[in-house]
Amino acid sequence: MKHFTRQDILQMEKIFRLNLINSCTGYKSANLLATKSKDGIENVAIFSSVIHLGSNPPLLGFILRPTTVPRNTFDNLKATQQFTVNHVGSDIMADAHHTSAKYEGTVSEFSKTNLRPHYRDSSYAPYVAAAKVQLGCRYANDYFIKENDCLLIIGQIEHLYLEPNLLEADGFISLEKAKTVTVNGLDGYALPTLLERFEYARPKP
Ligand SMILES: Cc1cc2nc3c(=O)[nH]c(=O)nc-3n(C[C@H](O)[C@H](O)[C@H](O)COP(=O)(O)O)c2cc1C
Repeated sequence: MKHFTRQDILQMEKIFRLNLINSCTGYKSANLLATKSKDGIENVAIFSSVIHLGSNPPLLGFILRPTTVPRNTFDNLKATQQFTVNHVGSDIMADAHHTSAKYEGTVSEFSKTNLRPHYRDSSYAPYVAAAKVQLGCRYANDYFIKENDCLLIIGQIEHLYLEPNLLEADGFISLEKAKTVTVNGLDGYALPTLLERFEYARPKP
């Protein structure tokens, strides 16, 4: 096995370290977070840190990089309390990746890609029209992570939209049918195959 110590990691060339450490915790979710500023400028950006926090109440979280530079998604969701989380499918992954480009707050990524906003349920924040799974969220809280100056943002899930054929009888969403991609590292996108669903695990006698 190849071996890196913490010391090796700290001394690495920056891009190599970015790729290595972003890959080493496994596959990550791929979502577009969409918001709208108080001035009415729509924003959409890709995030690979969205995680399930709990189902009752339904909560999700994501990690925001340090706010030492302007963070449009964060500024908008703090100001309006609303954001949407939209799955990245293989059909939109190139445009989704492009939303990570640093545009000024006055420029909407919707105008620089083929992604289109979609409004429903009187939401102030737009949904991403092409996403097959879409969540409408209300900002609930944020926690400062002192180890690296990041923030954990908590959102409560208010609305869940999905294409009907993706929903199975027991509530399971087939991400394979949705062709929702997963992120490998910082810039790799993969399409997983469902191998098996197992029974609820109980201790062996
Ligand atoms: C695959 C990928 C995943 C990303 N995940 C995150 C993330 O989890 N948190 C974050 O703060 N930025 C993440 N970024 C960077 C944002 O997409 C980027 O900073 C974007 O410009 C933010 O837009 P905003 O300023 O409009 O909010 C990611 C970028 C890529 C390419």
